[in-house]
Amino acid sequence: MTMIPAFDDILRKQDLSREEIKVLLAAEGDEKERLLRRGLAVKLQHLDNYVHLRGLIEFGNVCEKNCFYCGLRSGNERVERYCLSDEEVLDCARLAHELGYGSVALQSGERCDAAFIDRIERLVREIKKIDNGSLGITLSLGEQTEETYRRWFEAGAHRYLLRIESSNEELYYKIHPKNSLHDFRHRVECLEILKRTGYQTGTGVMVGLPFQTLDHLAADLLFFKQMDVAMVGLGPYIPHPDTPLYKFKDLIPSAAERMDLTLKMIAILRLLMPEINMVAATANQTVDPQGREKAISAGANVIMPNLTPGEYRESYFIYPDKACVHDTPDQCQSCLDIRLAAIGHKILYNAWGDSLAFTKKAGV
Ligand code: 5AD
Ligand code: SF4
Ligand code: FES
Repeated sequence: MTMIPAFDDILRKQDLSREEIKVLLAAEGDEKERLLRRGLAVKLQHLDNYVHLRGLIEFGNVCEKNCFYCGLRSGNERVERYCLSDEEVLDCARLAHELGYGSVALQSGERCDAAFIDRIERLVREIKKIDNGSLGITLSLGEQTEETYRRWFEAGAHRYLLRIESSNEELYYKIHPKNSLHDFRHRVECLEILKRTGYQTGTGVMVGLPFQTLDHLAADLLFFKQMDVAMVGLGPYIPHPDTPLYKFKDLIPSAAERMDLTLKMIAILRLLMPEINMVAATANQTVDPQGREKAISAGANVIMPNLTPGEYRESYFIYPDKACVHDTPDQCQSCLDIRLAAIGHKILYNAWGDSLAFTKKAGV
């Protein structure tokens, strides 16, 4: 049997074992506070106190998939479907540029039809024309073919987010139907393809899912490390009443516990991967009014303020009580400035804010 070192010795390590990670994930009280402080210290040491923004454009909520947790699933007939026009998407991107955000993230439900693929390629090229390519572009458009990923990359997108949702195959199939559209191995394969295509590749999981254990979460963190991703987005799971997973809502930890677990995941991941970009997900704000700031103070360094036009925001109903649904982009911008200053952080405006883990490797 291997010996597990004392808590504060584990905190000083970078290569953590699964057992050591589980000790950290179980930390409570003063030990938990020490872990979160260590996450912040390691981030400040490697990345300083800058926060990068990605203006989030949720440009459509039509989805071919049927994930058991998500309100946009194709089986949900209670959501009104929408799709922004090209002009509306470009207006959002121009607004991001005017607000100094430096980058946009295009997100929608998953679609793989030729019209959709062509349209994204065109939109990426158009966004690149704004002020001579000054906006960085992240895509979050699900599983696609290698050719599609390449076309979008060549058009000018350079970051891609594809959450694995759970790195444990068994748990993956408890939260997704088991069919050709939801194939765990294919999702992992997509992450590999994205990396070799040249994207800064991001993944992530939901925290506090029914049936999820600390052992699963520890394995998720080691999966991010083993995949050597450049970015991670972690957020608490939020039960949605119009989804099949809702019936298990009494099995999950309380909102406060899911928040705490998410913060511990962020802090531990910062120890494991000091130079990656890590998102303080909007879902944090749903379970705790200070959720995003707490995530930043535990080691995250990216925020994705919503740029989706007001009338559509409520239809991008992935989970209930999403933050900022009734706020305008201007309101979010000044709000974020104030909130981040209050915790000793600064927004780095007018910069792409690439992942240092990635740029160092690429020799940029
Ligand atoms: N709670 C929290 N996050 C969710 N997502 C989808 N449904 C939920 C939910 N009920 C997340 C998934 C997906 C991202 C777009 O939103 O991780 O990758
Ligand atoms: Fe579609 Fe993504 Fe929601 Fe799954 S999580 S149903 S792929 S929008
Ligand atoms: Fe949107 Fe505060 S960030 S209102």
